[in-house]
Amino acid sequence: METHCGAHWSAFFPLLFLSLFSTVGSSSPAAPASSAIRFRLAPGAAERQVPMRAGAPFKIAVFADLHFGENAWTEWGPRQDVNSIRVMNTVLHHENPDFVIYLGDVITANNIMIANASLYWDQAISPTRNRGIPWASVFGNHDDAAFEWPLEWFSAPGIPPIHCPQTATSYSGEECSFKGTGRLGLMTNEIKNNGSFSSYGPRNLWPSVSNYVLEVSSPDDQQSPVAFLYFLDSGGGSYPEVISSSQVEWFRQKAEEINPDSRVPEIVFWHIPSTAYKVVAPKSGIEKPCVGSINKEDVAAQEVETGIMDLLANRTSVQVKSKPASYICHILKNYLQNKNQIHKTPLVRFEV
Ligand SMILES: *[C@@H]1O[C@H](CO)[C@@H](O)[C@H](O)[C@H]1NC(C)=O
Ligand SMILES: *[C@@H]1O[C@H](CO)[C@@H](O)[C@H](O)[C@H]1NC(C)=O
Ligand SMILES: *[C@@H]1O[C@H](CO)[C@@H](O)[C@H](O)[C@H]1NC(C)=O
Repeated sequence: METHCGAHWSAFFPLLFLSLFSTVGSSSPAAPASSAIRFRLAPGAAERQVPMRAGAPFKIAVFADLHFGENAWTEWGPRQDVNSIRVMNTVLHHENPDFVIYLGDVITANNIMIANASLYWDQAISPTRNRGIPWASVFGNHDDAAFEWPLEWFSAPGIPPIHCPQTATSYSGEECSFKGTGRLGLMTNEIKNNGSFSSYGPRNLWPSVSNYVLEVSSPDDQQSPVAFLYFLDSGGGSYPEVISSSQVEWFRQKAEEINPDSRVPEIVFWHIPSTAYKVVAPKSGIEKPCVGSINKEDVAAQEVETGIMDLLANRTSVQVKSKPASYICHILKNYLQNKNQIHKTPLVRFEV
């Protein structure tokens, strides 16, 4: 797991923050914005709908690898969390997105010294929640990682005192332990928020959680989807880093059911890149428009492929977004322009 961000990122990249904006055009004239959350009860399954504003592109901000709670016992760690909140507030203020996606590693659970990691998760989503912007999240490999005792705690300064959160009056000493919060627990707390469109996903896909699809609905006709946003748990933390065969099959069936002729664009979000990205990754140097310290990292891909990329390559309607997104924007541009060696159809079109 450490290859993904743990110590490696702590040392060099206190915060990986990405804000990418995708747009889905709308041809409709201006009309009052609607923030209502609607449900479609059409034949088949009910997908939650995210309404588009009339006369405006649908703008999605993606925040990946916020790593709240990283090095929680130092001064440095909490300061990065404060900085991250400030950056998110700035981005949300200037870009005013319609929707926000938390693309995994919202928290660094392996560094969190309290039992309830959702308290850190809540901080990470607070800029979005406080602005009343709806959001959705998907898990990364650090969100339910087991606590790792820092070696330095066993030298002279010793184990730091544990400060249990002021807000949780019910905490006893026992609860202020390092036992962490699993995916299901994190999701239970996340979906208590009215603004959250996240979902557990089907039970039979356990231990993966956060596999679901949202429908971006047309402002003119709620029955006409404008796009489908898919979320897949790419594993890591409490289980291997993989998108399982069952998840692939779930995606296949779901897409067949709700978008049989691939007429509606589909965007798929997950955290850990496919092994395909290793093949197309640039071997040295990344140029604009990809910026940031992440450009110095190698691709840390999933452990195995069980077929999701083959499936997606066959769907002309699909775009994939996984982290590190700056890689993707570069890699796939490069790939689309020059290489074209893995799949015959473009997997991603990025509008950065
Ligand atoms: C953990 O924190 C979340 C978010 O603040 C809260 O909703 C939940 O009730 C807490 N769980 C426990 C066991 O205190
Ligand atoms: C969600 O909405 C309900 C009904 O409007 C309200 O009672 C509740 O306090 C809200 N919950 C949160 C977490 O904002
Ligand atoms: C993709 O399409 C090709 C050609 O129709 C087919 O042979 C192949 O089985 C498909 N792969 C998947 C994973 O659906």
